[in-house]
Amino acid sequence: MVFRFPFHIAVGPNACYRYFWGTQHVLHFEVFDMTVPGHGLLSGKTGVIFGALNESSIAWAIAEAAYREGGRFILSNAPVAKRLGGLDALAEKTESEIIWADATSDEDLTNLFEAAKAQFGQIDFIVHSIGMGINVRKDKDYTELNYDWYQKTLDISAVSLHRIVTNAMNAESVRDGGSIVALSYIGGQRVFTKYSEMGDAKALLESIVRSYGYRLGKKGIRINAISQSPTRTTAGSGIEGFDAMFEYGEMLSPLGNADAASCADYTVTLLSDLTRMVTMQTLFHDGGFNNMGISTALVEALSDKLGR
Ligand SMILES: NC(=O)c1ccc[n+]([C@@H]2O[C@H](COP(=O)([O-])OP(=O)(O)OC[C@H]3O[C@@H](n4cnc5c(N)ncnc54)[C@H](O)[C@@H]3O)[C@@H](O)[C@H]2O)c1
Repeated sequence: MVFRFPFHIAVGPNACYRYFWGTQHVLHFEVFDMTVPGHGLLSGKTGVIFGALNESSIAWAIAEAAYREGGRFILSNAPVAKRLGGLDALAEKTESEIIWADATSDEDLTNLFEAAKAQFGQIDFIVHSIGMGINVRKDKDYTELNYDWYQKTLDISAVSLHRIVTNAMNAESVRDGGSIVALSYIGGQRVFTKYSEMGDAKALLESIVRSYGYRLGKKGIRINAISQSPTRTTAGSGIEGFDAMFEYGEMLSPLGNADAASCADYTVTLLSDLTRMVTMQTLFHDGGFNNMGISTALVEALSDKLGR
């Protein structure tokens, strides 16, 4: 076996051990940081980030990236998430305050945006990274939906975006030229059978992005959805067949599935002034998945199955 020196062994998303031969042929190793360096894209900007639950959450990665880019923000999640206790570590790391708010409650959101105003004056960005499919979680097929749960799914996963924007605008909380980003999935535009009711929720979410985008344009405020690859998170793995969908994405996408950290990097560009003329879009962040029909990897896997 031929080793090239120095060689790198990844030990996590942001860290690596680097082995190298030092003088007198002694093998050394050091840990170095692989994090993308900040570019100050959000320097001087403030905001609210909804939906970080634990280290695997997409919003967690977004908060880390926003902080790295110089942004400062409030972290928010539903009060029921408080007992899980995971958010404190992120708050400490990003010097953020946590304000608990149920995104389906106007009262909670009013209080949140008043608190944001007290802390920052007007804010520049909002990230909506909230989702929950109640029927999906309870394994109810699309043809047998419990309508109370369905209503709740739509309320949490889509209408909450409308509520958040309305409450923020009523509180005159968002600065002209601000940016709002919501997380979506291609199941809102194409049928992914196991995604079930969540496909309807994402279709509604993306429609709210367009409908509100028109109204916010008068203030120069932008709103976009990012349609993200399957990502291993608490919400993601709550979907039956998630592993198969993940593998399918991996085999179909020319770049493979996009992970949470790269989604976070893309998100900060949308929160920055560099994308100031982009609004009302659903932007695919999926390694090219949405433009594929079938890939050679899938043809070969199916051919193997067919024995041809
Ligand atoms: N994981 C994936 O494969 C994937 C792919 C594309 C899009 N998304 C979307 O990304 C977003 C973030 O999900 P995630 O995968 O990081 O999972 P996650 O479970 O880490 O995040 C979902 C968040 O929604 C919060 N939430 C639920 N009900 C709420 C309420 N009533 N009020 C406020 N917050 C509430 C949860 O506490 C949690 O923090 C969701 O919109 C999800 O649909 C996820």
